[in-house]
Amino acid sequence: MILEKIEGSQSPSPSSSDLIGLRRKSKEGGGPLKIESQHRKGKMTARERIDLLIDPGTFTEIDEFILHRSTKFGMEHQKYYGDGVVTGFGFINGRKVFLYSQDFTVMGGSLGNAHAKKICKIMDLAIKNGCPIIALLDSGGARIQEGVDSLAGFGEIFHRNVQASGVIPQISVILGSCAGGAVYSPALTDFVIMGGDHAYMFVTGPQVVESVTGEQVSFNDLGGKDIHANISGVAHLVANSEEQTLDLVKKLLSYIPSNNLMDAPRGNTELEPDQTINLDTIIPENENEPYDMKFVIKGIIDKGSFFEIFPSFAKNIITGFGRLQGNTIGIIANQPMVLGGAIDFHASDKSARFIRFCDSFNIPILTLVDVPGFMPGTKQEYAGIIRHGAKMIFAYSEATVPKITIITRKAYGGAYIVMASKHLGADINLAWNSAQIAVMGAEGACKILYRKKIQKSDDPEKELERYIAQYKREFSNPFQVAELGYVDKVIFPSESRSIILNSLQFLINKRENVPKRKHGNFPV
Ligand code: HXC
Repeated sequence: MILEKIEGSQSPSPSSSDLIGLRRKSKEGGGPLKIESQHRKGKMTARERIDLLIDPGTFTEIDEFILHRSTKFGMEHQKYYGDGVVTGFGFINGRKVFLYSQDFTVMGGSLGNAHAKKICKIMDLAIKNGCPIIALLDSGGARIQEGVDSLAGFGEIFHRNVQASGVIPQISVILGSCAGGAVYSPALTDFVIMGGDHAYMFVTGPQVVESVTGEQVSFNDLGGKDIHANISGVAHLVANSEEQTLDLVKKLLSYIPSNNLMDAPRGNTELEPDQTINLDTIIPENENEPYDMKFVIKGIIDKGSFFEIFPSFAKNIITGFGRLQGNTIGIIANQPMVLGGAIDFHASDKSARFIRFCDSFNIPILTLVDVPGFMPGTKQEYAGIIRHGAKMIFAYSEATVPKITIITRKAYGGAYIVMASKHLGADINLAWNSAQIAVMGAEGACKILYRKKIQKSDDPEKELERYIAQYKREFSNPFQVAELGYVDKVIFPSESRSIILNSLQFLINKRENVPKRKHGNFPV
């Protein structure tokens, strides 16, 4: 409680000891007991987190003496310098960032009007100066005592999240509670990273859930990091400890530019791909046998540079960053190891969001295709695979960054078109000599085309096999598509990296005119 100190500081000639004392008071947050309680839970304080994230000695805090003006519910006696959030700017591995870190020791990090104004000020500075904004969140949500004033604060933050979208990267780091409407600020940002043992996100907490629906559920099962990493797809990345979580922020920043007008930082330019991977032998003889597309990625990009985003959500599609001679690329790839690489509604959402991030921040897109089609069934149709799949088409079609696509094996049906085909505006479309591009797989197609002939045959099984062999001769190769110009080049797998590198040199200054409009109507 700091009210006394404020009154004490109203001396006619403030001395340097006043400033020192007030700074100390501000740094104490909710006081030693609250800090101890935070530590007992295994959580770091807002300032300890900043110390771990920001390069030593580079953090400049602002608004450390801000106070709220609320007088209801005895709030005039509960004032803490800084009002429960630390804001400022500093460097992360030499990169400029603006950040805010909520202080749970002050009224549970709850967001009142002054707290929100501080956040808005730092967001405005980040936007004006073209630097990433990082939010370290640990809060009980809207400060109940401040009523609609705190709700207004959330609204102001949401509005800025939207204004900043596509201009500067926004990274939300959930290290404590994030409840109620407060979850929508992270949801509006580019990346949500959750970590530690106390990271929760939910619109309504377990008590409210039980009183409304009768369902009993724990904090973890309702909105813990595993739920959001594996099931809901809210969290892009998760880590076990707070330290590891903050390391993920640093790693992510190393791949992305500071704003939409700058290039991403360049990594080590000397690295070759993993030499233990032979791309020429990676596709199994049996066309239905899966293989791990992550090996294909690692066989193309600089060794050790793959950074997967959403690694445990919708694993049938892979999204992540990699580097080619040190330059960042975004990778979207079907994963034949999971659901045969078929596209479902989650995979559509996951990839559309990632494509849009890459396009917003000028990161070239590499698409690797081995897709048997869209996932069939009532579960998919009822969940709206039609509108979710449309997001991928929209995202690929509107993206004006360099787009290179390689078909490694299957590219069937609508999924062939969706996966960055020439028809959606990809710049360079390559096909490995193992590629098969068709409306559907051989067996399914022959059973439809020749059903009557097969039924009438003396040996239907043999007849089916004969038709399948004929279909494969026609479609199980990339040459018929190369004849049509829908792939630009048929290549041996081991040629992939050099052709991508050569192509990117020529695509990097690509200009594409888009029709004038306010904005497209993205099929959400
Ligand atoms: C004011 C709050 C608060 C809040 C916590 N505190 N949440 N004060 N407004 N929203 C205070 C507590 O009173 C307590 O004060 C201190 O913070 C620590 O809280 P504890 O409950 O003791 O901590 P813990 O046991 O760790 O539980 C943390 C918690 C819980 C899970 C976050 O506090 C909680 O459930 N809070 C409410 C969460 C919630 O429903 N928020 C949604 C609000 S509505 P003392 O003085 O005792 O230390 C909302 C809508 C936003 O956010 C809409 C935007 C459009």
